[in-house]
Order: sequence, then C-alpha cells, then structure tokens
Amino acid sequence: MSYEIAVVPGDGIGPEVVEAAMPVVETACEAAGVSFDATRYDWGSNRYLETGAMLPEDGLDELRGYDAIVLGAVGHPDVPDHVTLRGLRLKITKGFKQYVCARPTRLFEGVTSPLRGYGPGDVDFVVYRQNTEGEYADVGGREYRGFDDEVAVQSAVYTRTGTETIVRAAFEAAVEREKRLTSVTKSNAQAHGMVFWDDVVEDVREEYPDVAVERLLADAAAMDFVRRPDEFDVVVASNLFGDILTDLAAGIAGSVGLAPSTNVDPSGEYPSMFEPVHGSAFDIAGEGVANPIGTVRSWELLFEHLDEPAVARTLRRAVAEQLGDERAPRTPDLGGDAGTVDVASDVRARID
Ligand code: NAI
Ligand code: MG
Repeated sequence: MSYEIAVVPGDGIGPEVVEAAMPVVETACEAAGVSFDATRYDWGSNRYLETGAMLPEDGLDELRGYDAIVLGAVGHPDVPDHVTLRGLRLKITKGFKQYVCARPTRLFEGVTSPLRGYGPGDVDFVVYRQNTEGEYADVGGREYRGFDDEVAVQSAVYTRTGTETIVRAAFEAAVEREKRLTSVTKSNAQAHGMVFWDDVVEDVREEYPDVAVERLLADAAAMDFVRRPDEFDVVVASNLFGDILTDLAAGIAGSVGLAPSTNVDPSGEYPSMFEPVHGSAFDIAGEGVANPIGTVRSWELLFEHLDEPAVARTLRRAVAEQLGDERAPRTPDLGGDAGTVDVASDVRARID
C-alpha cells in the first residue's frame, strides 16, 4: 500500500523532531513493504508573523484528501499561545471532527520514572481525551477591556455527540485492554456539563457490562496518577483535564519527549492527525537536543490507525529496544547528552 501523508512540522522543536523521525519511519515502511509520500506544509508562527495567519484560508481543503496528518508542534515566543493553538491545531481538530485524542503512557525498560518503585511495564495506561469541545470550545468574550469592571466569560460546551463519542471510544479501548475504565470529571463543582458527562458514562456503560467503571474527581485523579499509576488501564476525561493529566502521565513515564498522541475522526470522513504530546519547547529549540521518540511513536499510532500493523510493530520494537539498551544514546531529558539525530539514527539502526 502507498499513503499520502501531510506533514506540518510547525514551530520550535517541531521541525527538529519531525525531520529526525522521518528516516526512521521510511526505514520501517521499507521493511514492511509499505510506502508513503510526505508533503510538507510550512504552516505555523513564522507564517503568522509574515502574513497574519498560521495557515492559508483554504488550508483545511488542502489537507482533506490526505490519508493522515503529522503535526510537530506550534508555539512561538513572539506570538500569543492562544493565537497559535487556536490558529492551527484547534482549527484542524475541530474542522476535521477529530473527537478522539488517545494518549498511551508506558514506562519503558531503560527509562527511570521520577516515582520510586515502578519498573518496566508497571505503568501502562491510555488517556482518552475529548478533543473538540468542552473547556476548549471557542465560546465567550471580554468586555470593558482595561476598565475596573472588565469582564471575561469562558464557557465550556458538552454535546451528547462529543461526549458519547469519546466515552464509547474509551470503552472500546478498555474491552481490548484490561477492561477497567476511569472517568475523570469535576462534577461536584461543575454541576451542569460534568454531571451530564457522568450521565453519558452511565448510559454507555450499559453496552459494556464487562468493563469495570471507576469515577474520580480530577484533583483526586491527579493525586492517584502519582500515588498508584500502576492501577490505571483506560482513563477518559474532558479536553482540559485530559490535556493536563497527559503531561502528568508523560512525566511519570520519564519524559514528555516520549509521549505520542492521536487526534482521530472516528467516522473516517476526515483525515486523522498524529503528533507528539509536547509543545514547541522554546527553552531547547535550536539546540538539536529534543527527544524525537514521541514523534516516532506518533507515527506508530498513525500506521496502527491506517491498519498497517507491521509498520507499527516495527517502530514499537525499535523504540523499546533503543530505550532498553543502557549504552544507547539518550537526549538530556532522559539524562544523556546525545542529540535528536543521534537518537533517531540509533532507533533506525535497530530496524532490520
Ligand atoms: P512544552 O511541551 O513545549 O515544554 C515543556 C517542557 O518539556 C520544557 O521544559 C521542554 O524543554 C520539555 N520538552 C518538551 N518536549 C520535549 C522533547 N521532545 N524532548 C525533550 N524535552 C522536551 O510546553 P510549554 O513549554 O508549556 O509550551 C511551549 C509552547 O508550545 C507554547 O507556545 C505552547 O502553547 C505550545 N504547545 C503546543 C502544543 C502543540 O502544538 N500541540 C502542545 C503544548 C504546548
Ligand atoms: Mg498539552
């Protein structure tokens, strides 16, 4: 099979990790007899600074025909974060109905968790994050700017379609895994949207009688990610809570530089998008030391989504072997002094 992939490297370390990962992915595809064309788009903050827009007016039309999209990261010190995030990533996730953001967390052999007492595989769960609405709905406004009575309103939006879609995707994942699902809300304080979320979970769970359901408030969930990360299997959460909890999860598993993410339209009408969890990391951009493994693993999820399990398996094995080899090069986030390209080349060399 041959695939057409749109690649948006973006800002900061985005282009560094995307370009470093590319030969790894090409090699894995060759080994599996799969080919792809990667078409790069130079959308992002530099384009915004030159033209006032992160992507062209017809950008989504341009992307629509691809089999999948790969995003590096967006975010620039000279452009407000809400402009870059809303101007690119949220445009694509919302415009292409990518309701389902799945973010697996695994403590790999060879990687040390900052939490004591956990070894390889002890931490192994996946967070399903609602990806199109909730707290990231573009609903609200500001009035009387600069006056004492200035007011800002930001409303969260929960639709039955959006909530059911993510909850069902999480239950489906739980069926394939260990049949345990944790729903994270804050329904003691958010009596409308999040009690609605709880109701949807109660409705949908009837279709999955074999899945054990636990409910946690978000603050307790944050504590329990630290206190008992080994007990989670599938976690489902709103857009904001899922965002926060997946950085925490990535930290527990050793580095945000290892963490991959999907943005899936479950209907298949639009292309889905795959990206590392991390942002553009201004603090290390340009130094060539960003960890490329989160991006390699995002390609793994992409090929799983395209139903090319051999490519996904090859990437998964190469990454696990590289991390598990104590003499292998490591980027500074994992305590080493190697560069992005050194690590990517070493992952690539492990593919037959
Ligand atoms: P960040 O994820 O870019 O960085 C957080 C910390 O993790 C930094 O210390 C960074 O050096 C480190 N880090 C991140 N990726 C790494 C990698 N691959 N290897 C080694 N270390 C890594 O989050 P931050 O600093 O809050 O945001 C920076 C910019 O990125 C902002 O403009 C933000 O809006 C944007 N952002 C964009 C995202 C996206 O494009 N999907 C996601 C998160 C943030
Ligand atoms: Mg995030």
